[in-house]
Amino acid sequence: MMKKQMLAAMSAAVLGAFALNAWAAPAVPMGAHHAKMKCETCHTKDNAVKGNAFVPPSDKTCEGCHGSYAALAKKTAGGSEPNPHYSAHYGESLSCSACHRQHEKPQSYCNNCHDFRHKMP
Ligand code: HEC
Ligand code: HEC
Ligand code: HEC
Ligand code: HEC
Repeated sequence: MMKKQMLAAMSAAVLGAFALNAWAAPAVPMGAHHAKMKCETCHTKDNAVKGNAFVPPSDKTCEGCHGSYAALAKKTAGGSEPNPHYSAHYGESLSCSACHRQHEKPQSYCNNCHDFRHKMP
């Protein structure tokens, strides 16, 4: 437990340092948009792993409401550069929750290696 809390504090410090140049705060975080949704809307039986539905939901769950990667890429063209929904490395294989988060601070997965100004909702 102790170890987990320390790790959380450490990663918060790292995120804090990063925030200045690589992570711009969104006007409204994704979690707030979804606040009124039932847990089961995302944590479906289909997504469950070994009977536990509370695992990060599959991309299909998100795409059911928001459309495909291709459709999203069109929507976000001309926004945060490079387009987060069109990746030369990953195609459509990167999961939505690699960047978007419902219960914690979102982070552009790309910035594990790059320093893009991705404004994460
Ligand atoms: C049942 C439908 C539904 C599901 C499932 C759902 N969303 Fe949403 N989401 C919405 C609605 C409605 C909004 C409010 C804004 C809008 O209409 O786009 C929203 C907002 C968002 C926003 C903020 C958009 C903005 O313009 O700021 C993001 C990002 C997002 N969702 C991503 C996801 C991801 C990732 C998942 C899967 C983990 C997901 N959504 C699952 C319906 C859904
Ligand atoms: C590499 C990180 C990354 C991944 C992976 C990713 N997104 Fe995004 N998403 C972003 C960023 C950054 C924005 C903000 C773009 C902007 O406003 O310019 C965004 C914006 C959005 C929006 C708001 C679009 C609008 O109307 O402006 C929705 C909805 C969304 N993402 C859903 C998804 C879904 C669903 C998936 C998986 C299929 C996904 N995203 C995968 C980074 C990501
Ligand atoms: C819009 C979709 C959405 C809704 C609604 C939602 N979640 Fe989540 N949940 C996620 C995503 C995406 C993750 C992955 C981590 C994150 O985004 O914070 C997650 C992760 C989790 C986890 C951790 C799983 C793990 O293996 O790390 C738990 C526990 C959880 N959610 C519980 C809940 C509960 C309880 C509710 C209802 C109050 C709820 N969620 C509503 C999308 C959702
Ligand atoms: C594991 C590390 C890693 C991750 C994660 C990563 N990249 Fe890269 N990327 C690289 C490397 C290495 C290069 C090639 C060297 C260079 O040109 O900087 C590159 C090059 C690129 C280029 C062409 C060169 C440039 O800088 O313009 C683009 C565009 C790009 N990446 C976009 C993305 C996007 C979008 C994401 C997230 C969806 C992403 N990358 C995630 C490592 C990564």
